Amino acid sequence: MAETPRKITPEKLRSRQWFDNPDNPGMTALYLERYLNYGLTPGELRSGKPLIGIAQTGSDLSPCNRHHLELAKRVRDGITAAGGVAFEFPCHPIQETGKRPTACLDRNLSYLSLVEVLYGYPLDGVVLLTGCDKTMPACLMAAATVNIPAISLNVGPMLNGYFQKELSGSGTVVWKARERHAKGDIDYQQFMDIVGSSAPSTGHCNTMGTASTMNALAEALGMSLPDSAAIPAPYRERGQAAYETGRRIVEMVWEDLKPSDIMTREAFENVIVANAAIGGSTNAPIHINAIAKHIGVPLDNDDWERIGFEIPLLVNMQPAGQWLGEDYHRAGGLPAVIAELIEAGRIHEHCITANGRTIGENCRGKFSWNREVIRPYAEPLKEKAGFLNLKGTMFDSAIMKTAVISEEFQQRYLNNPDDPNAFEGRVVVFDGPEDYHHRIDDPALNIDEHTILIMRGAGPIGYPGAAEVVNMQPPGELLKRGVSSLPCIGDGRQSGTSGTPSILNASPEAAAGGGLALLQTGDRIRIDLNKRSADILLPAEELERRRKDLESRGGYAYPASQTPWQEIQRSMVDQLSEGMVLKPAVKFQ
Ligand code: FES
Ligand code: MG
Repeated sequence: MAETPRKITPEKLRSRQWFDNPDNPGMTALYLERYLNYGLTPGELRSGKPLIGIAQTGSDLSPCNRHHLELAKRVRDGITAAGGVAFEFPCHPIQETGKRPTACLDRNLSYLSLVEVLYGYPLDGVVLLTGCDKTMPACLMAAATVNIPAISLNVGPMLNGYFQKELSGSGTVVWKARERHAKGDIDYQQFMDIVGSSAPSTGHCNTMGTASTMNALAEALGMSLPDSAAIPAPYRERGQAAYETGRRIVEMVWEDLKPSDIMTREAFENVIVANAAIGGSTNAPIHINAIAKHIGVPLDNDDWERIGFEIPLLVNMQPAGQWLGEDYHRAGGLPAVIAELIEAGRIHEHCITANGRTIGENCRGKFSWNREVIRPYAEPLKEKAGFLNLKGTMFDSAIMKTAVISEEFQQRYLNNPDDPNAFEGRVVVFDGPEDYHHRIDDPALNIDEHTILIMRGAGPIGYPGAAEVVNMQPPGELLKRGVSSLPCIGDGRQSGTSGTPSILNASPEAAAGGGLALLQTGDRIRIDLNKRSADILLPAEELERRRKDLESRGGYAYPASQTPWQEIQRSMVDQLSEGMVLKPAVKFQ
């Protein structure tokens, strides 16, 4: 590849404003002197070497990203080899499985703090170390806001897990084991052993959950090196990708290749297409819409349906399919998926990516050798793997991933020959996950195989950060009779590792005056997948009466905040359909 001409000269480096500013010798000396105290030389800081941040998201508190503590050394080697100087710094930890009340609460906090670091320190570019679910969006949102050259590096998935002879996939195995435990097939210790088997090494979830999804999408967007997202964390290629990423960011600084050059409207359209083909998480629209907002590109859930719904599922990976991260990587990872999509005319090939080439140059012709794991476009695992964007009297927007609709669900709900894409049912309403856990087995609720479960009070305001709780398990009695799932609708989120066909991310949420707040247990609702509608089967006057009644009580009640950040975020957060961004933050594009 021909070398891209330098657009930036050493005198124009951003860091020179700190370390070499003859107009203000006092401040320059002050900025400079403390960076010498651990052995850096004035020459390194002032001779025109790009200063590159390494945004470290790994720590003992963030086990999914912890391997970045090792990988950062290879990133540093790459930066040095290419003539830069590395500055590693910690990011606010976001561990999906360990943070109460939900890790998503911290996405915007981590975003805010990273913006301050990137803006306020002498950095010419940054390597964003991503992995666990919210670390990719927090990092890319910040890179979008500050818009200095940036490249992301995934930590990579864990190795495949096994329990006895069976593949054991992160998260997905929890949902399965939880069901067996509720039925009484396994005891508490067996439950723990089965779930533990899915975490055999360093790295993030090895299923196509939110982490694998978001990092594949960072690559599809063009923000990481091609063929880097899927490499399992312990593989040698992972360290090699870290080194190449470090080398490449230095070049990106000289080329002045910024996030706004890469994250264009067409690149986001590529992301929507890629997400459907990989069987990506329902968290993707939230985070991708947020990144788009921060770079100033219009993108909404109608775009997700219009561009993504028809795209077939090509990646045969849990939860929608069979295999895990190692298999996906060996089969060719994202470039093999993009190659199929290019051939089908679904990708804007000219979008520029972090390596300075277009996505077409990077991926065209890179078909998988393993068509069992990455299917040809014409022989997909499922047709129409994207999301529907439903609207009606219950909400203005909610996402449904129809690709995970099971045979059982199809037969039980979508079985009316006159109207095979619509279903009706009586609802049972829960106010938050605690209410659900408390009451789900109460026989007085009369939950049967035709009931629709509603989870409200779980959105960004009602349950700060929006809880991943919409996929609700049926009562134990129903499970014992072989009913393994009921339709679930809610204003919260759902784990990307879950295969339940829920209607989720409902916006506005109950706590923001959405229609879910008007529902009562016993009401009937109707979902029509053809019309993309979701309505409460009550006369308009009755809904109006209930709304007035709700308003007279001061609106939908939700629990008090437990921390200052919960209170601050609740006061300024937007809804899930809008990316759950902080409203005052989006004007800084
Ligand atoms: Fe961290 Fe899944 S819990 S990646
Ligand atoms: Mg999750």
